[in-house]
Amino acid sequence: MRLDLFTLFPQAFDWFVAQRHVRNAVAHGAEINRINYRDTTPLGAGQVDDAPYGGGAGMVLRVDVVDAALRAAYPERRPDRVVLLTPGGTQFDEGLAAELAAEPHVALLCGRYEGFDERIREHLATDAVSIGRYVLAGGELAAMVVADAMLRKLPGALGHAESALEESFSEALGGAPEYPHYTRPPTYLGWDVPDVLVSGDHERVREWRLEQSRRRGESGSA
Ligand code: 6GU
Repeated sequence: MRLDLFTLFPQAFDWFVAQRHVRNAVAHGAEINRINYRDTTPLGAGQVDDAPYGGGAGMVLRVDVVDAALRAAYPERRPDRVVLLTPGGTQFDEGLAAELAAEPHVALLCGRYEGFDERIREHLATDAVSIGRYVLAGGELAAMVVADAMLRKLPGALGHAESALEESFSEALGGAPEYPHYTRPPTYLGWDVPDVLVSGDHERVREWRLEQSRRRGESGSA
């Protein structure tokens, strides 16, 4: 998997790319590139945005600037998925994370604070994705959320391959949230670990976990 992050703030991803699971994915062959729109802008003085037609507050990321960045990065062929991060996009979920993680090459386009020219969405992006119904100051945090959910699905990202199998929203749990976990001490301030988990009866443990997961899915709380 090759993941290209287009942004005006490449340093915003410094922390992200230093994370253990991200470094693991890279060590197992994933490639993560950060590309600054400003490096290839066709405009003078590093200009990348402009005032909105029709008036209004703020600046808008220009379509020619984004197209120039894509042309420079992809002289031959663009990735099959060019994902624009925008609060008005399709709600990101585990299913879309899995779909993107299965692609050989994905580009994530971060917008600017106030917005981007709509022609970027219409003509340059294949997908528009939102991470939730709230507005962030920029697409970088959203891109990290999307990248994190994707990359942890790649081989070698997680220490234990099994830990991704029975996790929240997985097929193994029928799309429901994960069951609760407990560890030592068995009792703390009178708060006890459920007996079944310390019973040593693996079949009962399995049934209990599936039931807990199912209940959490019904109540809508994870
Ligand atoms: Cl993808 N971008 C921004 N700026 N805000 C968001 C978002 C994306 N998803 C939810 N809020």
